[in-house]
This record gives sequence, structure tokens and C-alpha cells, in this order.
Amino acid sequence: MRVLELFSGLGGWRFALGDRGRVVAAYDVSEPANATYVLNHGDQPHPRELAAVSAETLAAHGADTWLLSPPCQPFCRMGNREGLADARCRAFRHLMEVLQEAPPERLVLENVLGFLGSDAHQLLTERLRAQGLMWLDLEACPSSYGLPNQRPRAYVVASRQPLVPRPLPQREPQPLAAFLDAVEDPSLYLRPEVFARHRHGLDVVEAQNRRSTCFIGGYGRRYVGSGSFLRTPQGVRRFSPAEVARLLGLPGDLRFPEGLSLEARYRLLGNGLSQPVAAWALAHLA
Ligand SMILES: C[S@@+](CC[C@H](N)C(=O)[O-])C[C@H]1O[C@@H](n2cnc3c(N)ncnc32)[C@H](O)[C@@H]1O
Repeated sequence: MRVLELFSGLGGWRFALGDRGRVVAAYDVSEPANATYVLNHGDQPHPRELAAVSAETLAAHGADTWLLSPPCQPFCRMGNREGLADARCRAFRHLMEVLQEAPPERLVLENVLGFLGSDAHQLLTERLRAQGLMWLDLEACPSSYGLPNQRPRAYVVASRQPLVPRPLPQREPQPLAAFLDAVEDPSLYLRPEVFARHRHGLDVVEAQNRRSTCFIGGYGRRYVGSGSFLRTPQGVRRFSPAEVARLLGLPGDLRFPEGLSLEARYRLLGNGLSQPVAAWALAHLA
């Protein structure tokens, strides 16, 4: 596969792709995302607003596969659910035009569950049908792979070739202890008055538990509904970026640019892909 990685973030699709293919170009507008991408993958993504990249420019990369994770806020439970009318769908709408002019042989899109059944999903599947691609709508959560993390996501996997069904495993999630740092960062602990203010809404787990909630991009500054917090004998703390990365199945040696704030690290991870689930979606391509 010669892959165009669109909305590339820290390069979650590239990690999941492994030796199934090669990324020929990646695109993302975010400077911190691109700096993280180049550090981990060696190649610099195109720092472009995708809505302004022409079909000819994209076609010139010679890719046969699109892997994409468009912004999910227009389809989120906590968002406005405006779908295509949301300004953050502009690049997606543009790509649906490109799909008519220069369609790939294969495409895998990841998003929140609310994407399925949305007007954006309808537009995508109309375009796929018109171009003669078959597709599967999939839903999966990394907990099936034994990761103690809830991150249910939707995948649309499309190809001109017949798709291969891949049953999800049903592994018992491991205890969180297996994902924790050997040495804790004391600055991750909540001050007692902060904990007291948010305690009723916080999802607090312990090392022996086998679950955590979905870590979202705002985990570094929000409390309720942003991801789990860990209770230890010392108090209650956030999971570190390295711990969140492990819970996503990302490589243990994932690197961030020096000086990138904690908040920005959580934002990149919260936008990221759970690796075993993304690899499972890719495995449906023959
Ligand atoms: C959901 S995240 C994708 C994360 C990625 N799959 C990963 O593994 O890290 C969406 C990404 O799209 C980028 N983005 C959003 N709107 C964009 C646009 N109009 N053009 C280019 N990139 C955009 C954001 O900067 C963000 O990194």
C-alpha cells in the first residue's frame, strides 16, 4: 500500500500500518502534531489546511490508499453534533470532492461512534458506492484486545477488492498496574482542594483495576469526563502521557518534542488511535 495519511496527528496510522505499506505523504495543520510526527517517524508531514489542497496535488503523491481520522467534534456525544454543517468538516467535505476526481483503491477512516449514521457517513458511502468501492462499517473498543481502556470507535474500511472479515478477540483486560510508570511524576497529583472540588464527577481507578475511561484531548486541563484518574497511597493523580500512550498501545519509546507542554502532549494522545484496533481495521483489507 502506498498511503496518504490525512489529519496525521502524531502518526497513529503510520504506527498501525507497520510493514503492510508505506506512507508516501502525511498532512496536518498542527505544528505540535507535525513536530511529534517527524520525531517519531522521520518524515515531515505537509503543514497544510487540507481544504485548500487540490485533487491534483494529492494525486501527485501516487498513493493508492487513504488513511484518515478527521476531527471528531462534529460527531461527538459532548459536541454540537452538527455533522457536515460544522466548520471543522470543511476539509472532510473537500476530500469528498477529491474522492470523486481521484479516488484511492482503498480507504480506512476512523472516528467516534457518532460518525456512523451521520450525514458525513452518508456522503462518504455515496462517494464510495459511486466509485465502485465496497465498504464495511465497524465498531471496536481496545478492551477486546486486553487493554484496560475504553475507547469505542467507528471505522469505515473500503476497497475495490473484497474485504476480509476479522472477528475481534475477547481478551480479559489486564490490570492497569502493567501500564504504569516505574517512577511517578509527583507533579501529576491533584492538590487536595482541586480533588475535593471535582471528586463527585471524577472517574477514579486503582492500579489493580482493569479499566479506564477514554482519554480525550482535554485531559490535561479538564477533570470530569476527560479520562480516568489514578488513586495511589500518595493521593489522586492524572495518568502520565507515557501511561496514556501505553494504554493506547503506542510504542513505549514514543517521543515528544522537548519543551512541548503537558497539555499539548495529552491533546495529541487524546486525538490518537488505539493501535490494536487500528491494526485490526487495516487487516480487513485483503
Ligand atoms: C483526530 S486527530 C487525528 C489523529 C491521528 N490519527 C493520530 O494518530 O494522532 C485530527 C488531526 O487533524 C488535524 N486537522 C484538523 N483539521 C485539519 C485540516 N483542516 N487540515 C489539516 N489537518 C487538520 C488536527 O491538527 C489533528 O491533528
